[in-house]
Amino acid sequence: MMIDRSFSTEEVLRDGTRVTVRAIRPEDSTGLREGFGRLSAVSRYRRFLSSQTELSPSALDYLTRVDFQDHAALVAYGRIREGQPVTGLGVARFIRLADELEVAEAAVTVIDAVQGRGLGKVLLRLLTQAAIERGIRVFRAEILRDNLPVQQILHSVGARLCDTHGPIQVVEVDLPPPSGA
Ligand SMILES: CC(C)(COP(=O)(O)OP(=O)(O)OC[C@H]1O[C@@H](n2cnc3c(N)ncnc32)[C@H](O)[C@@H]1OP(=O)(O)O)[C@@H](O)C(=O)NCCC(=O)NCCS
Repeated sequence: MMIDRSFSTEEVLRDGTRVTVRAIRPEDSTGLREGFGRLSAVSRYRRFLSSQTELSPSALDYLTRVDFQDHAALVAYGRIREGQPVTGLGVARFIRLADELEVAEAAVTVIDAVQGRGLGKVLLRLLTQAAIERGIRVFRAEILRDNLPVQQILHSVGARLCDTHGPIQVVEVDLPPPSGA
């Protein structure tokens, strides 16, 4: 399965929540803005390492108009609870480093209302596959030392600590080699 601009898949989370995960598109700008508004202050800070309360139009543009080669993002849509409208639930992206072409900065965000159901892991699994298909060998992330959920995820995939700046840690994860390699 190639994860490209036309990619879309249905996944069922461990509590039965059905989600559609697909490649981000420029029209996702509204969903992204609304999803950002649904994040708690703690989640926003953990993702962006700043206390910004909204995404500017230029940031939304940058985050949704991606080339799917050096910058790729996947979005998840679904219902927080049965009977509620379908909304954006999460997003995962990588951005290849300009001077280290086999390394990409990776980030994942799941809205607070559905955290802990397995969506973060689903998004990271698919994002990893998309990255491997594009020759990326390493994910790099800047995370807060006290961000236990992400520390736990990174620990489970053998992440290594590369650098520390105050409360921020720079970690790297080696991605599995492409299948058939
Ligand atoms: C990190 C984040 C994406 C995880 O998403 P999620 O959907 O809640 O994660 P999952 O349910 O898939 O859980 C994945 C793993 O995280 C760990 N985890 C999740 N919630 C946790 C918690 N409250 N405490 C400790 N570990 C936790 C567990 O190891 C879990 O694996 P397991 O369920 O097999 O035990 C989500 O918490 C988030 O968006 N946080 C704010 C933004 C952020 O910190 N992004 C990461 C930096 S870029």
